[in-house]
Amino acid sequence: KKRIGILTSGGDCAGLNAVIRAVVRHAVGTYEWEVVGICQATHGLMTRPPQIMTLGIEQVDSWLMLGGTVLGTTNKGNPFAFPMSDGTTIDRSQEIIDGYHQLNLDALIGIGGDGSLAILRRLAQQGDINFVAIPKTIDNDVNITEFSIGFDTAVSVATEAIDRLHFTAASHSRVMILEVMGRDAGHIALNSGIAGGAQIILIPEIPYKLENIYNKVRRRQKIGKNFSVAVVSEAVCTQSGETVQKMEQFGECRLGGIGQYFANEIAQATGAETRVTVLGHLQRGGISSPLDRVLGSAFGVAAVDLIATGQFDRMVTWQNREVRSVPITEAIKDYRAVDPQDTLVKTARGLGICLGDR
Ligand code: F6P
Repeated sequence: KKRIGILTSGGDCAGLNAVIRAVVRHAVGTYEWEVVGICQATHGLMTRPPQIMTLGIEQVDSWLMLGGTVLGTTNKGNPFAFPMSDGTTIDRSQEIIDGYHQLNLDALIGIGGDGSLAILRRLAQQGDINFVAIPKTIDNDVNITEFSIGFDTAVSVATEAIDRLHFTAASHSRVMILEVMGRDAGHIALNSGIAGGAQIILIPEIPYKLENIYNKVRRRQKIGKNFSVAVVSEAVCTQSGETVQKMEQFGECRLGGIGQYFANEIAQATGAETRVTVLGHLQRGGISSPLDRVLGSAFGVAAVDLIATGQFDRMVTWQNREVRSVPITEAIKDYRAVDPQDTLVKTARGLGICLGDR
């Protein structure tokens, strides 16, 4: 009879509780193992005694659609360089490893994005932990897997926002800019922009020229469509002259509010009235979409089966309509950006959506 641990790490998203529920139902229900939920990601293993909750089938019954993570999470404090109040950092990795072993666990399931999974894998290697990973992130930028938990819900929220913006844009003859999350990748903007029928989609993977954006707005003005909706990914950078200024520090763009930059430029060049909406953390919260519940359930069951068959140091994936798994090293090598040759980029072009490069 095994005893396994599960934790959620990094930013929250919809679908996390569906994963936890599936792990508990399969591990406890099918294999009769014990499942220990670790609170606040690796922080729960740093505290003494470790902060945990024992998870039973009845307890997780109503968790399927719940947003956030009942276990709690954090994306602050890499344990290998843990920030101290005086500005220095210390290595607290051994405390986490010791905390894990105090719990007498046979294996650990970690749900995280590429950053957290890289940290968890390093801990697992150093601490001799049987580790299985499940990808989650609204950014959908974990390598290899076509979908990560949380992405579909974020796209639904952004799509609904675009739908709503269309009505007010048309009523007031305005260009409405919607700034969405995605970190360095444009998946949320591209998918929601197509789903919501945006006229302009700007993503960091496709360099733009402001003139192309103005022309799209002007062409619509000429045919009496005095409104447009533009979706802008948070990592898109400002432009000086004809060259894209790839700011070294991603943070600078977010602080400046890239949506406002486009609103100002478009207003000045086309005379259109513009307004900006920054969707922010609304994309992360709330009830999860059916797809995130299905994916979460499938990933949870598959992760438990990996443990049952002794396959560790692997991450479950969704590829070609089935759950598979790959070595975690493959998944954390790099992040998955939008490929400019991607089917959805072609779809957007075919629909006449301006991607800024032409
Ligand atoms: O990685 C998920 C994400 O929501 C990104 O899309 C966004 O850039 C970032 O996290 C926001 O982080 P925080 O919640 O720490 O502000």
